[in-house]
Amino acid sequence: MGMIFCFRQGRRWWPLGGNPSRPLPESCISTDSLWSVRSCFAKTISLLKRAIISDIHGNYEALQAVLAHIREQSIEEIYCLGDIVGYGPNPCECLDAVIDGCAVCLLGNHDQGALFDPEGFNSGAERAIFWTREQLENARDDAKSDRRWDFLGALPRIHRDDPWLFVHGSPRNPVNEYVFPEDIYNQKKMEKLFSLVPQGCFQGHTHVPGIFTESYGFVTPEEAGYKYEFADRKFLCNVGSVGQPRDGDNRSCYVVLQDDHLTYHRVEYDFNKTVEKIYKIPELDDFLGDRIKQGH
Ligand SMILES: [Fe+2]
Repeated sequence: MGMIFCFRQGRRWWPLGGNPSRPLPESCISTDSLWSVRSCFAKTISLLKRAIISDIHGNYEALQAVLAHIREQSIEEIYCLGDIVGYGPNPCECLDAVIDGCAVCLLGNHDQGALFDPEGFNSGAERAIFWTREQLENARDDAKSDRRWDFLGALPRIHRDDPWLFVHGSPRNPVNEYVFPEDIYNQKKMEKLFSLVPQGCFQGHTHVPGIFTESYGFVTPEEAGYKYEFADRKFLCNVGSVGQPRDGDNRSCYVVLQDDHLTYHRVEYDFNKTVEKIYKIPELDDFLGDRIKQGH
């Protein structure tokens, strides 16, 4: 374990090079020993229980169900890996919930498409992005509208919390690169991606949950028994999608990271309500509702 240097500001000790928003707890500084501060800090980091969600895509029913599920588990922080909007019927409501509830949020390619001119999308996705932008622009509450645009405009592409990396797409191209299960057969790509990861990378984008192992295997949540113990091994974790799963299971998916393991959760929600909303909005293809029902 490397040495951690701390400095004192007011009554609190803060780690140099650590998370600047996270002071060391008072219980760590009962002695002047840097060694005991270091041990306690390491414990503080490892015990942080995080929920990691991604690809909400304007599906408010799914997001509410996932947030309720998270609330039952004494989670300390929620991270969102992007694509809050796009495809789904409630972009504003989803943005408000993420702004209020997530400690970290990253830029997804659909969020970027709503902010700028969408590039590289199929026609259905592009129509959905233009409709999404209209909802954001025509919101009645100016203060809320400004808050949403400011939030979208400030989203980072990557978040580092050593040894973890958080992105929407991949460690090489944080917003746009897909890492599909079949990429395990592309050794050059996997070598490059793993070379950029300190130990673990959490990502979304494909809507297909699972673990890429350092021996270039892919383990689905079912195959892992919904729990993966990584110990000191490297891995890439696709956390799946809250609002539009594509692995054949239409339940929302998210991950909890704690200590030396991560846990996949699948959450049922009233998808018919979301699907009916999509069918009633001409700019959103019926296909977008169909795939929410089918989960692929
Ligand atoms: Fe997505």
